[in-house]
Amino acid sequence: MSAPRKIFVTTALPYANGPFHIGHMLEYIQADTWVRFQRMQGAQVNFVGADDAHGAPIMIAAEKAGKTPEQFVADIAAGRKQYLDGFHIRFDNWHSTHSPENTELAQAIYQDLKAAGLIETRTIEQFFDPEKNMFLPDRYIKGECPRCHAKDQYGDNCEVCGAVYAPTDLIEPYSALSGAKPVLKNSEHFFFKLSDERCVQFLQEWTQNGVHVQPEVANKVKEWFGVRDNPDGTKSEGLGDWDISRDAPYFGIEIPDAPGKYFYVWLDAPVGYLASLKNLLDKARIEADVDEDTPNPTAMTFEQYMAQPELEQVHFIGKDIVTFHTLFWPAMLKFSGRKTPDKVCVHGFLTVNNGEKMSKSRGTGLDPLKYLQLGMNPEWLRYYLAAKLNGRNEDIDFNRDDFMARVNSDLIGKFVNIASRAAGFLSKRFGGQLGAAGAAEQALLAALQAQAGTVAEAYEKRDTARAMREVMLLADRVNEYVDANKPWELAKQQGADARLQAVCSTCVEAFRLLALYLKPVLPALAVQAESFLQIEPLQWHDAARLLGAGHVIGDYQHLMQRVDAKQLDALFEPPAEAAAAAPAAAAKKDAKAAKKAAPVADPNAPGGEPLAETIGIDDFAKVDLRIARILACEAVEGSTKLLRLTLDVGEKDEAGQPKTRNVFSGIASAYQPEQLVGKLTVLVGNLAPRKMKFGLSEGMVLAASHADEAAHPGIFVLEPFPGALPGMRVR
Ligand code: MSP
Ligand code: ZN
Repeated sequence: MSAPRKIFVTTALPYANGPFHIGHMLEYIQADTWVRFQRMQGAQVNFVGADDAHGAPIMIAAEKAGKTPEQFVADIAAGRKQYLDGFHIRFDNWHSTHSPENTELAQAIYQDLKAAGLIETRTIEQFFDPEKNMFLPDRYIKGECPRCHAKDQYGDNCEVCGAVYAPTDLIEPYSALSGAKPVLKNSEHFFFKLSDERCVQFLQEWTQNGVHVQPEVANKVKEWFGVRDNPDGTKSEGLGDWDISRDAPYFGIEIPDAPGKYFYVWLDAPVGYLASLKNLLDKARIEADVDEDTPNPTAMTFEQYMAQPELEQVHFIGKDIVTFHTLFWPAMLKFSGRKTPDKVCVHGFLTVNNGEKMSKSRGTGLDPLKYLQLGMNPEWLRYYLAAKLNGRNEDIDFNRDDFMARVNSDLIGKFVNIASRAAGFLSKRFGGQLGAAGAAEQALLAALQAQAGTVAEAYEKRDTARAMREVMLLADRVNEYVDANKPWELAKQQGADARLQAVCSTCVEAFRLLALYLKPVLPALAVQAESFLQIEPLQWHDAARLLGAGHVIGDYQHLMQRVDAKQLDALFEPPAEAAAAAPAAAAKKDAKAAKKAAPVADPNAPGGEPLAETIGIDDFAKVDLRIARILACEAVEGSTKLLRLTLDVGEKDEAGQPKTRNVFSGIASAYQPEQLVGKLTVLVGNLAPRKMKFGLSEGMVLAASHADEAAHPGIFVLEPFPGALPGMRVR
C-alpha cells in the first residue's frame, strides 16, 4: 500500500463582525465533505479555520458596540460552535488571526519579503478625519456624487448613478464616522512589489499551469496580467504593487521597526491559516508531551510538518476573494521562502429562492440557526448542497421546492427506504441474519461495488453533484430489484423463506454500499447505519467487500424524517418584528437572535412558540432532572453572557467525599452572581458534558424565557418549593 496522503485544508477565515450566514455554511460543508472523503481514503488531514479579527470595520463596529475589539471578536467567536457542530462540520482547530502565532508568522513573512527586496515605502495622500484622528478607508468617506449630485454617496462609487471615482472627487466630503470634513494628509505606506519581474513570472506560471486553480479561475486571473482599467478611468499594465500598511489607530498587527504602522488586514488574514495549524500542532505536542529532539510523526512541530515534501496545502474559498488567494498569498509564501499552496478551490455564491446575491456581512433569506432550531435535519442541507456543487466556480441557488424534492424523493425515497423496506423482515423472521445471495443478487451488488472508483473520482474533484447522481442511479437499480422481487409478497408465501431472506439481505448489502458512498455527505446517518448494521466505521476500501451470509444486523431504527413543507414555510417566514423594524435595527436583532439561538417567535403561541412534538413518558424519562444547590457563582472573564456555577447535586466521589459540578449558564444578563449563591435550582443531570472555551460544562440549569425576547425580556431560573434537597430527582 502506498503511503497515505498528507493534506492541510482550510476554508476562508470569516470576518469576526457577525454570525455565520448560509454562504459560510456552503463553504464549510463543501470542505468538510471533501475532508471526510479524504479521511475515508486513509489520508492524514489537518482541517483548520479561524476568525479574521482585524481591520477597520471590526474596530469601528466594536467601538459602536461599546466593547474593545478583543472583546467584540471573542463574543463573535463564542457563537461559532453551535453552527459548526449543528451541521456536522468538523474542523480540527478554530483559532483567530488576533493571536501570538499569527503575529509571529506575519511579522516573519514580512521580514523575509523585505530581505528579498520586495517591500518598498511610498508617500501617499489620503483623507484624514481630524476629529477621530485617523485616516479614513474609502467606505467611511461620504459626500455628493460628482456626476449626478446625489447626496451621501460612498467614497468609491455612487449607488444612484453608478459612477466610480476616487474619494477626493466627492463634493463636500465628510467623515461617516464623525461627520467632520476630512483633510488631505500625507502618510508613508508600505508596498509589496508584486510588479517585480520575479513575482510576475512566478505568478503567471503558478496561476496558468493548470495545476493550482480551476480553468475558469485561471482565465479570470489572466486578465490581471494584461492591461487593466483603473477606477478613475486610466489604464494600468500588469500587476500593481500592493499597499500592505495602515496607520494607527488600527486593530491589527504592528509592522516591525515601523512605529504606528500596522499590516493591512488582508496581509495577516491568510497567514491565519498557518497560525491555526501551528496552534493545533502545538496543542497536540503538549498533549503528547513530545520533546524537541525526537520528532514523532503524529506530533511534529509546525516547521517539521510544513517541511514534509509530500504535504498538500489546499484552500477552499469563494469567488470574491480570488485575487488575494491566487496572487498575493502565493507570492507572499514563495518569496518569503515558504511552501506555496497546492490547490485553491473556488466556489460560487449561494443565492436563496432565486434571490439576489446575499449581503456579505449578513446573508438574507436562510438563517442557518433558524434552520436548526426548527428541527430541520442538517444532513438534508448537506445532501442538497452536495447535489448542487460540481466543483466549478458557479453560483448555485437554494430553491425550496427543489430542496424538498431532492431530499424527499431522492435521499429518502430512493436511498433511506431501501433499508426500511428490508430490515424489518430480516429481524422478525431471521433473527437479523443475512442469507446467501443468488446469481442475480451477486450481479447487482457487484455492479454497485464497481462504481466505487467513479464516485471517488467525483469526490476528489469536488464534483459532488456527479457523485450524488451516480449514487442515485445505483439506488434506482436497487429499487427496481426490490419492485421486481416484492419482499412483502414473498413474506406471505409458503416456503419462500429462503428467497425472502436473500432479497432482504441483498437490500441490506446494497444499502451498506450506498451509505458508504454517501458517508462524506451524511456522516451522522452513516454512524446510525453502522450501528444498525453492526459494523465498524466504513472506510472507502470496504466497498470491495460485502457483509456476507451469516452476518447479523441489529434492529432497524428509523434513519431520517422527510422534509415537511411547514418547516420551509417557517424557515422563510420573515420574523414579524424584524420586518417591521428599521433595517439597521433588524440587522442588529438578527445578529442577536442568531447568537442567542432564540426560537422563532410566534405571537399566537404560548410563550411565543408552538408546543414541541408530543412525546411519551419514556422519552421524558430519558431526561434526568435533579435538584441542585448553587454553592458558588461567578462572572466568566471573556464572556458577557455566561455565569459559572458550582453546584451540589448530592454526588460523591470514589473516596466518598462530596463532589461538585461546574456548569456554565447563559444567564449573566439576568442575574448578578451573588443573587444566586445558596439558591436551589433544577439541573439536567445526564446531559453530555460540553467542552467550552472557558472549561467543561457538566449539565444545564433550567430557566424560562419568551421566544420574543424583545417584547418579553428576561431569563428566569427555576427554583423548587422549600424542602427539596440536592440530588432529588424531578419527575
Ligand atoms: N475575511 C475574509 C476572508 C479571509 S481568508 C484569509 C472574508 N470573509 S467573509 O466572511 O466575508 O467570507 C468568508 C467566505 O464566505 C468567503 O470564502 C466568501 O466567498 C464566502 N461567502 C460569503 N458569502 C457567500 C455566499 N453567498 N455564498 C457562498 N459563499 C459565500 O472574505
Ligand atoms: Zn451619482
